[in-house]
Amino acid sequence: MIRILRSIHRRIRERFMEKRECSQGEMIEWLLADRSECLGDHPVFVEIGSGVSTIHLSRCGRRLKASVYSLDINAEKIDALRSKAGDRIANVEFVVGNSLDILPDVVEGKRIDFLFLDSAASALHTLHEFLICEPHLHPGACVLIDNAAMPAEKRPLSPARKGKILVPYLLASSHWKVRSHPRAGGSMVSAIYCADADFADPDYENPRHVDHWQEHFDIAFR
Ligand SMILES: C[S@@+](CC[C@H](N)C(=O)[O-])C[C@H]1O[C@@H](n2cnc3c(N)ncnc32)[C@H](O)[C@@H]1O
Repeated sequence: MIRILRSIHRRIRERFMEKRECSQGEMIEWLLADRSECLGDHPVFVEIGSGVSTIHLSRCGRRLKASVYSLDINAEKIDALRSKAGDRIANVEFVVGNSLDILPDVVEGKRIDFLFLDSAASALHTLHEFLICEPHLHPGACVLIDNAAMPAEKRPLSPARKGKILVPYLLASSHWKVRSHPRAGGSMVSAIYCADADFADPDYENPRHVDHWQEHFDIAFR
């Protein structure tokens, strides 16, 4: 009974969040609010592209006893964030550098529970960041992408550049349950890694496709 009520409550909140405008940080807090049941003892949160969102991620990290990593290329911005946010981000480990260079070391040997992709405004760069992290994502893991939209989205809040390749990639995978949050941040997309392989969007994947090679050979080699 409690599980049914929880699931109804979650669906109402999802509908509410889809309609409401909110910041990147609020979206992080909302996504992580429900995740405590899916997280292990010492979860790992990774943010690529630091900023005000880091304060929200840090707060979630404290509540959920997570290790929080925030990566950014701009050392001056990190220093300013540290001096302005002070103790509020004391639990965050910042790593400065180009994400594609520093990510492999940050994620090595780790299981990532939450990944926020919000660095360079480039579809390829974001895809490469994801591909570095992908082997470290497991069932229950959640990915959030800013400046992203579903391919059919008519009015995203931004050009949705960061998700232009990654969102279709996730939609084509049978393990990722993808949702769009067009009014959050600069248009956001989240995805949950599911153990059941039930989620491939048939617009991208058609498992029923059959190569009728014998018929083609009969015609071609007549
Ligand atoms: C949109 S801002 C992040 C905003 C932050 N997530 C927030 O919501 O408050 C993008 C950040 O990505 C960083 N960035 C850009 N290119 C990068 C790269 N190649 N590697 C790491 N960080 C990068 C920028 O320095 C900038 O701080």
